[in-house]
Amino acid sequence: MMYIKKYAEVIVSGLDDKLTIQEVERLIEKPRFINQGDLAFPCFQLAKIMRKAPSKIAEELSQRLQGVSMDLFEKVEPAGGFVNVFLNKTSVAQDVLNNIIEQKEHYGDFSIGQNGIVAIDMSSPNIAKPFSMGHLRSTVIGHAIALILEKTGYKPVKINHLGDWGTQFGKLITAYRLWGSEETVKKNPFKELLALYIKFHVEAEVNPELEQTGRDWFKRLEDGDETALQLWKWFRDESLKEFSKIYHLMGIEFDSFAGEAFYNDKMDEIVEHLEKSKLLEESAGAQVVMLKEEELPPCLIKKSDGATLYATRDLAAAKYRFDQYQFVKSLYVVGNEQSLHFKQLKAVLAKMNFDWSNHLVHIPFGMILKDGKKMSTRKGKVVLLEEVLNESIQLALKNIEEKNPSLPAKEETAKMVGTGAIMFHDLKNFRMNDIEFSLEDMLKVEGETGPYVQYTNARAQSILRKAAWSGNLEEFRLNGEAEWPVIIDLLNFPAAICRAAEKYDPSLIAKYVLDLAQAFNKYYGEVRILEENDEKESRLALVYAVSIVLEEGLRSLGIKAPKEM
Ligand code: ARG
Repeated sequence: MMYIKKYAEVIVSGLDDKLTIQEVERLIEKPRFINQGDLAFPCFQLAKIMRKAPSKIAEELSQRLQGVSMDLFEKVEPAGGFVNVFLNKTSVAQDVLNNIIEQKEHYGDFSIGQNGIVAIDMSSPNIAKPFSMGHLRSTVIGHAIALILEKTGYKPVKINHLGDWGTQFGKLITAYRLWGSEETVKKNPFKELLALYIKFHVEAEVNPELEQTGRDWFKRLEDGDETALQLWKWFRDESLKEFSKIYHLMGIEFDSFAGEAFYNDKMDEIVEHLEKSKLLEESAGAQVVMLKEEELPPCLIKKSDGATLYATRDLAAAKYRFDQYQFVKSLYVVGNEQSLHFKQLKAVLAKMNFDWSNHLVHIPFGMILKDGKKMSTRKGKVVLLEEVLNESIQLALKNIEEKNPSLPAKEETAKMVGTGAIMFHDLKNFRMNDIEFSLEDMLKVEGETGPYVQYTNARAQSILRKAAWSGNLEEFRLNGEAEWPVIIDLLNFPAAICRAAEKYDPSLIAKYVLDLAQAFNKYYGEVRILEENDEKESRLALVYAVSIVLEEGLRSLGIKAPKEM
């Protein structure tokens, strides 16, 4: 935020060049308690340079700054080893509200990315398997990261690297030929394919030869066998239809659906390159790239029967993406259980001398647990995402029927709230944490939930409708203490966006909108916004700014904000 910069300038002017502006800016923090002011400069680093106690430096520096504290700062004060400043509330409020009124949803935009392309590998579910909770996380986190990067000036390209190739298709074809029928699959493709997949694994435990039959069918598929290809294509189409419903419910679109199969004709080039660079070695009949210096296990490129692997397709995909997009970064939003795979991928690309390999970033995340345990597809312990989304939407609808039965677009609103609840529940947690799945918790209108933030925004919107606010703020007038925390939060939005983009961490935005919603609800409880007096215009401007920022914060997470709830 610009006040940090201004404060840093003031500090530097009192320091006789002992630290640079950038150094000071980085040191400035928020005081621990609100009565200690708005910004704090810690003097501990200076203590080393100046060989003086931090509290002594803080006192002397505050003395020197008494004269300089211009109109933006009300007061400069030493406290322990810190120099604290109190911002001039009226001018800061005027400033930030004017900015928001003027920039609207562009408040918090940056051009840091300079239109550089960022490829984002996200969602990437496996065909003929249900859309798992892990894929939900990848979808929701990846989508939010794309929106946040876009807000900071990058051009995201959202790529759905569908798991539409690999041994599991051999297994599925085997299962279908043994136990499936066209009729049942056509009737209920998704459930039936899942049932076949599960049956395969159950049967294979007593009859291990099935695994070999599965591998053989996959080999035939890779070799272009007509029967295999036809079945594969059919399964793929049916699954995609099902996935599209989920994406549609969540309002998520992709720029590319180039999945693993897309790289079939692009892997030879990679294998040849590896051969030419003498990187391929034989190990137990398979072709591998050794990664000894990197202290990683060998990366498997080709199996002994010549079949390619997940890693081979990822190598081809990485190169294709660079050739196609000339990305400045290539992100992979994939669960942390694949960390090793992405380390190997980067290491092999580096060995192939692709200097862009260090622009690859794996963005890992934790698991969604049910009663403390991982959900597994193979054992049939799955929660079907489409059902979860629909259940959530139904619950939201029920809430509306109870609380606001005369609401106009009920269904539409329930959809925004129901899907928003699930997305927010995921995004508010730092992505590396495992999260427990609980539909009930997600939908609460109190506490740290999506509906709570949406509801707060709807409340702000309803005030604005009632007041028929002009949309102008001539002169800001302070009402009292209650609005200051709201102003400070508004001020911090651009910094939150910036940090979230830097760290690929949407939870910072989720936490930010929760803070703002809480501060606003407290304000709403303490102040009579619609009271007719000289400060009314300022209060309405604040309500308006809060709504703009809540909506834009939610939008950056991929969540819609109904105007009425
Ligand atoms: N389909 C894979 C899985 O479900 C995830 C793919 C991630 N993206 C990639 N380029 N490897 O495990």
